[in-house]
Order: sequence, then C-alpha cells, then structure tokens
Amino acid sequence: AQRREVDQLLAPLRLSRADLERVQALMRREMELGLGLESHASASVRMLPTYVRGTPDGTERGEFLALDLGGTNFRVLVVRVAQDGIRMASEIYVIPTAVTQGTGEELFNHIIECIMDFQLKQNLMEQVLPLGFTFSFPCQQLGLDKVRGRLCWTKGFSASGCVGQDVVQLLREAAQRKQHLGLKVVAVVNDTVGTMMSCGYDDPKCEIGLIVGTGTNACYMEEMRNVGTVEGEQGRMCINMEWGAFGDNGCLDDIFTDFDRLVDEKTINAGKQRFEKLISGMYLGEIVRHILLALVEKQLLFRGKPCPKLQTRDIFQTKFLSTIEIDGLALRQVRAILQDLELQASFEDSLLVQKVCQTVSLRAAQLCAAGLAAVVEKMRENRGSAQLAVTVGVDGTLYKMHPRFSQHLQQMLRDLAPNCTVTFLQSEDGSGKGAALVAAVACRRAEP
Ligand code: BG6
Ligand code: GLC
Repeated sequence: AQRREVDQLLAPLRLSRADLERVQALMRREMELGLGLESHASASVRMLPTYVRGTPDGTERGEFLALDLGGTNFRVLVVRVAQDGIRMASEIYVIPTAVTQGTGEELFNHIIECIMDFQLKQNLMEQVLPLGFTFSFPCQQLGLDKVRGRLCWTKGFSASGCVGQDVVQLLREAAQRKQHLGLKVVAVVNDTVGTMMSCGYDDPKCEIGLIVGTGTNACYMEEMRNVGTVEGEQGRMCINMEWGAFGDNGCLDDIFTDFDRLVDEKTINAGKQRFEKLISGMYLGEIVRHILLALVEKQLLFRGKPCPKLQTRDIFQTKFLSTIEIDGLALRQVRAILQDLELQASFEDSLLVQKVCQTVSLRAAQLCAAGLAAVVEKMRENRGSAQLAVTVGVDGTLYKMHPRFSQHLQQMLRDLAPNCTVTFLQSEDGSGKGAALVAAVACRRAEP
C-alpha cells in the first residue's frame, strides 16, 4: 500500500512518450513564432539573432581577452589563436551573491577590477586586446558588439539598474569609472554560442550549442530566410533560443506539478524561466526537497518524523542528486549524505530518496531531449534532407557531473528524432574560447 502511495505522488513527474512528443511539438511552434517578425513578441522562446554567421573555419587569428560571466564561475581569459592551435590562460574570480544581487554599478565595477587584476598578473596592462564577452543571459543584439538593451536577468542574478540596458555600455561605463582606458569590447556572445564555436573549432559538424548547468539553453544555425527578425535571405545565422523561458506563456502548464509550482514561487523570478526550472542544476535539488517534504508529511519517509533541516531552501543541492545516483553506490553512502543533512535514513528511506532523485533527473533529461528533438528536426527540414548528421557542443555542470543525464538525454533524443544522427561533444575549454573566435571574426571584418 505504501508503494502505491509513493507511486501516486511521483506519477505527475513521469512523462509518457506522448507527453514528450507534445512538448517537442510545442517547442517547434514556439520556435517558429519566435523567428517571425510579426509573431515574435508572443513567443515564450525568444529566438535571439546572434549575428554569428558561421562556425569556425580555422583561419581565425589573434590575441584576445575573454570574459565568461553567468555560469558557476566567473572567468577572465587571454586566448591566443594561431595557425598551430589555441592557447589560453585563465583565472576564476568569485562574485559574491551580494554583488550579483546588488546594484549594477557594483557588479560591473567588480568585473572591471577582476579584469585589471588579471591583466596585471598576465603582464597585459600595456596592451589593448580586443575582448569577447560571454554573457550568459538574454539580451537582444543588433550586431556582434551591438546590444539593443532589453537585457534581463535569470539564474539568481538581479543587479539593479541593468534590465533593459546595453551590457557593453554598462561595462564601458564601469571601465571609465575605474579609469581603465584600454577596454575594447568587440563581441558579446551567449554561453551556448561560445560553446558551439569552441567545439566547432574541432568539429565542423558542430552547429548546435547546449548548456545544462546552473541554467539551460540552446543555440543552433538557422537559415537566414527563416529569420524574420533580421534582414537578408542568404546563408545562416546562429540563433540563441533562450529556451529556458519556454512555457512562460502558459503552454506547459499541464506538465508542471505542485512541486514545480512551489519551487517557482520561491525564486526571485517567479513565473519566469519555467522550462529551465524543470531541468537545470539551480532547481533540481529544490524539486527533490519539496517531494521529500511531501513524503514525510504523508508518513512515507523518515517515519514521518519532522525534519527541520529539510525545510531550509537550497539545502538539498543538485550535486547530491549526482552523487546519490552513481551506479553501484552503496546505500550506506546515500545514508551518509543524508546524515550530513541531519536526516536519519533507514535502508528503505535511502532507497526511496534515490528513487525520487532518479525520477526528477530523468524527467529533466527527457524534457531536454524533447527540446533538442525540435531543434534537430527543424534543421533537417530546413536542409530538405531525409537524414541529418549534426554535432551538439555541450557544457554545464549537470550534464558533465550527473552519472545518467547524458545517457537518458541521448536515448530519448534518438527515440524522438529517429532521422537525425546526433553526436554530443563535451566542451572542455569553456565558452571563453568560442567568444575569442567570434571576436577574431569581428576584428577581421572591421579591417579596412
Ligand atoms: C562553462 C562555460 O564551462 O559552463 C560557461 O564556460 C557556461 O560559459 C557554464 O555558462 C555553464 O555551466 P554551469 O554549470 O557553470 O552553469
Ligand atoms: C539562462 C540564461 C541563458 C543561458 C543559460 C545557460 O537560461 O538566460 O542565456 O544560456 O542560462 O547558462
């Protein structure tokens, strides 16, 4: 009887093949809406043109600074692109939460201070190197280095005075305040785009970028004739989908569970980034925590004993999911993890927690597959071919660290898009390398 009750509680989190096909079809519809000049305002998937018109061709050259802001780590890099390959040096800097959620001035001042520290350490103070900026938030562009504003924050950032502003301008103003005169921003790219370019340097078939980390998002090469929001019909352009916001217009309401709603309500961007909140690292642990609380309340877990620690937000981190799901992990290790959270778990409790984690991460991977299936199928149709072979450049802590995520994602994708052969290439160098490659193209174009 207990088992039936558990299954009942978890049932809404289990998606059928038909559910996933519907998500795929909805994503496809939102993509079309987002690309259309007349319809894009009504789409939840913004489909932002990036002005990146091709993947690397190996002729990129030069020395660049790069910034990588918006993932777990903030990085400053120097990237040297030469005939015999790419060399990089980088440094990770901490941005305290008080700064990511303080004022925009403080945030951008801090970024400039980090750049100056890095330049000092690398002996680059005297040079003005062109800079490629990986900025992993939605913002509308008019060119590689032209941002029309309409920036908005996601993933726990909320620095004031930035929404609707031009990030390049915010960075330049901070540089002026700090009297740092040698800053030349030539390209702004999303992390999906940086990842696609970075992997594209090694694999010319890489025409999709995917992030499953703190947040989730994808980009891909779309035919210019389909991009209603940019003039011109020739060639292709990379589109930053901003698929994390899929469902913000209500189109996914029937797959959200009560747990998802509880998680969403407590975020600083409630009602926003609804697809992301089902998939990415910032939220999965919270979904699990709410399910565990419900199980305790129904006396199905920890013998119904109240667990004060479990009431604490973000106490169940997504990295626990990754550990708890490791194949062959002894249940006593699961118990030890729970013990750290002051949860006294029996053998059965440990098994149940594992099951909850598996259910939540499987759903995330399958939803991600449904999104990607919409992308690869569209690319295949665009090219008028019966089959498509394409590579996805992918990055993000959840994808890289979780023992099952990538396997589930790939399996479901094969199922949902049987006419596409999709290879996944993990980015090892981060997206800063890709930002430098985009900067190289921008500089070449600017030459007389
Ligand atoms: C990094 C990229 O490797 O992965 C970043 O360089 C990206 O640009 C990040 O944002 C995404 O993963 P996470 O887990 O750090 O959010
Ligand atoms: C969020 C951001 C998006 C980014 C993604 C992955 O969804 O809005 O720009 O690509 O996280 O980091």
